Amino acid sequence: MTTEPELLRERAAAALTAARVRTAGLTDAVSEAELTAQHSPLMSPLVWDLAHIGNMEELWLLRNVAGRDSMHPEIDPLYDAFEHPRAERPKLPLLSPDAARRYAAEVRGRVFDLLDRTPLEGTALLDGGYVFGMIAQHEQQHDETMLITHQLRQGAPVLTAPDPDPPQGPPPTATEVLIPAGPFTMGTSAEPWSLDNERPAHRREVEAFWIDTVPVTNAAYQEFMADGGYHEERWWEAPGWSEIRRHGIEAPLFWHRDGDTWLRRRFGVTEPVPGDEPVLHVSWYEADAYARWAGRRLPTEAEWEKAARHDPAAGRSTRYPWGDADPTPAHANLGQRHLRPARAGAYPAGASPLGVRQLIGDVWEWTASDFLPYPGFRAFPYREYSEVFFGPEHKVLRGGSFAVDAVACRGTFRNWDLPVRRQIFSGFRTARGAAPAGSIAGQA
Ligand SMILES: [Fe+2]
Repeated sequence: MTTEPELLRERAAAALTAARVRTAGLTDAVSEAELTAQHSPLMSPLVWDLAHIGNMEELWLLRNVAGRDSMHPEIDPLYDAFEHPRAERPKLPLLSPDAARRYAAEVRGRVFDLLDRTPLEGTALLDGGYVFGMIAQHEQQHDETMLITHQLRQGAPVLTAPDPDPPQGPPPTATEVLIPAGPFTMGTSAEPWSLDNERPAHRREVEAFWIDTVPVTNAAYQEFMADGGYHEERWWEAPGWSEIRRHGIEAPLFWHRDGDTWLRRRFGVTEPVPGDEPVLHVSWYEADAYARWAGRRLPTEAEWEKAARHDPAAGRSTRYPWGDADPTPAHANLGQRHLRPARAGAYPAGASPLGVRQLIGDVWEWTASDFLPYPGFRAFPYREYSEVFFGPEHKVLRGGSFAVDAVACRGTFRNWDLPVRRQIFSGFRTARGAAPAGSIAGQA
């Protein structure tokens, strides 16, 4: 990446504009009544996300960087994600859809003026355009959240996108790939827009392990279901077992059975579950139970990142499985270009040097690991971005999904959620140790 100031400005402006185009698409697609409605207690009304996007941008760029006063101090507390849990947000005196749009647009106009005349160096917030990149990533992350709200909403479809192309080139030759033992560099100290939890780069030892070439498919997951996987306690961690019993869960979220056929609802369309697509909308407990049933386990976060970034020939970690180049449509299914994962085995151009496919895009992949800080972690620029979430209650997801934009997706990017969550665009792949019998492989 260039540090040439003008190119950096263009990159920041393009990232902000791309996020706003997506935000507009997601919010203009539904009526005013649907923007202010709560489609699920798990989610905010879409109009809250819209004004919150503008408010975060005002806070970080206009108030913290430019030193301006708050534009509307009375609304600031309404859009603080830590003051009001999602279920409460519909009852707040929120800005109307029109007022929220005007506010976000006014902030953006002032931000573009600021970007034109601010040196992108000299402080940790400004170096490399970090704070502008952080705000573009924040908006894209809320766009993903809003896409989840669209998936949860009832009613006729309002979003459309072409299906992914059928896989190009030869299918993978093996179902799993051996990742040899040895150290690799995990995390990053160089990626200019990486977030605090991805930092710093550090050395990790990883035992040899095998990892699935592609994510677990719907067809494979249906074998687990058909084998009584949801009815055998031995596959489940205790809290997962009580969760599926309590809620009568017998299939991924949004699936239902019609005779012998499993159907799913996807953005308002009901369709047969496609067997060759990565499974989507499963909790960590479901992923973990499937892996145990299959005689395997989830990869640890370090194993996942080594499979995705370690280039054995070059002896270093790359930004993405395919190397250091930014993602293109040939590499991965990102950016809501499609409203579904591509078939398993797609994107041979995005494979890792050892041949692991679809690590980036398609579905978020649950890992075995808790969300913990790397050695040398420093909260930046605020504790609530990730530090307050560290601990055993959150599991790490990696790789991004079709709903993630490239600006918020890297080989080092870390996502986290509660192990019961399944409305997110989550799937998984499995792994197994390759060390001699009796030793424990790949714990990290
Ligand atoms: Fe936010």
